[in-house]
Amino acid sequence: MPSQPEPFLLINFKTYLEATGKKAVELALKMEKVGNETGVTVGVAPQFCDIAQVAANVKIPVFAQHIDAITPGAFTGHVLAESVSAAGATGTLINHSERNLRLPEIERAVQRAREVGLTTVVCAGTARLGAAAALCEPDTVAIEPPDLIGTGRAVSKENPEILTDSVKRIRNVNSRVTILCGAGISTGEDVYAALKLGTNGILVASGVVKAPKPEAVLLDFCNAVRRLA
Ligand code: G3P
Repeated sequence: MPSQPEPFLLINFKTYLEATGKKAVELALKMEKVGNETGVTVGVAPQFCDIAQVAANVKIPVFAQHIDAITPGAFTGHVLAESVSAAGATGTLINHSERNLRLPEIERAVQRAREVGLTTVVCAGTARLGAAAALCEPDTVAIEPPDLIGTGRAVSKENPEILTDSVKRIRNVNSRVTILCGAGISTGEDVYAALKLGTNGILVASGVVKAPKPEAVLLDFCNAVRRLA
């Protein structure tokens, strides 16, 4: 098992207007500031059209929200790994529950990302699917039960078993990947519980992006991380 990696907090901007265009850059700068001030590693996942301007303005990791399992060529409307990398992304989400892929596509997308040097976070909705995703050898698996996404009811509180079961099953098939969890995370306590259950961090969206003061919520998360340090 890898020595405990630094907890990682990844903020998914989804397609929320609060994090679109110029607002995506403003939010990313706020997230970076809190990360720098607390010493906690944070990253952001803006929409494709915002990757370039966000990456040009921050030094924290910028992730694409999806890439397709394609190679350069005639794939109109698809998302090429080389394109998001050229725009400044250093990582990508794959198989988010709002942008699902079939298992062979997940495996191929992870390979494509690796060929381009993108860090991969493969999402899964159950512990078993998490283990299947880990067999595709991504850098990270993110466990997000779809029924809790966007509810404000945290997976680490509402369904801690899915996290302990996921950590066990994933570690059984791949001891190198790191494990994030997401869905409903909205307080420092939710983050603290997630880390105590053996995960290496969180993937969050509405709890931060839709908050009146996103930087205050992230600061609460970071303070929870520091409590564990
Ligand atoms: O990718 C993060 C996401 O699906 C969780 O959403 O809004 O429950 O934090 P949310």
